[in-house]
Amino acid sequence: MTWLPDLSLRITTFPDDRALAKKLAADIAAGLRENPRLVLGLPTGRTPIRLYRELAALCARGEADFSQATTFNLDEFVGIEASHPGSYRTFMEQHLFGKVNLAPERIHFLNGAAPDLDAECRRYEAEITSAGGIHLQILGIGTNGHIGFNEPARELVARTHRVALKAETRRNNAALFGGDPERVPHEALSMGMVTILHARRIILIATGKSKARCIDRTVTGPLTPKLPASFLQLHRHVDLLLDQAAAEKLSS
Ligand code: PGA
Repeated sequence: MTWLPDLSLRITTFPDDRALAKKLAADIAAGLRENPRLVLGLPTGRTPIRLYRELAALCARGEADFSQATTFNLDEFVGIEASHPGSYRTFMEQHLFGKVNLAPERIHFLNGAAPDLDAECRRYEAEITSAGGIHLQILGIGTNGHIGFNEPARELVARTHRVALKAETRRNNAALFGGDPERVPHEALSMGMVTILHARRIILIATGKSKARCIDRTVTGPLTPKLPASFLQLHRHVDLLLDQAAAEKLSS
């Protein structure tokens, strides 16, 4: 564990992504025991797959109970139905929702096929508010420093909004669309930076060498919309859980 006094983010490194996922899953299960009505913010992407596998295993063994928990996912592609094989909703069904005892009515998701996307974003913000806000937001990080789909830009949008995806982000999501970046939607809906920063507690997970540079800039760099994750330094309760590879540039 590293927690240098001049860093506002608490960093924990693990030997590998399996150890990281096991520890975080155990912490979430403990959080659910303490507060069964936990409101969780959830990410998609390759990084949380192992976490979701561990949570599913804990739930199967009766060691994690999601029956009264509420979830809000960070983002969704625009222009595809929830049932589309490439949607984040489908991803979550496959990796978590179909494997734990969450009540369907307490699973919240942005609808990227909504007829009025601005109204859809407002609906989502209102639902987060009426749930009492997010207790624990789990985040991944893009290689370009995005969190949710808050992409590097001249300015960051505060609340849930519609966003144009960067080419790099579309390439990184190609696996969901048969490996073809051209088939990845050009736009998405995403919680905004303020939506994320209003979570009571945030845990960002990052694994692999490709994340080492953006993690270093997130932790030691200035706050800049060119690296949206740098704004996490403003929050008082952020943990970064990293494997050795993602932490590589920090320790050097
Ligand atoms: P990844 O994506 O987990 O697939 O690297 C993370 C993200 O883009 O937030």
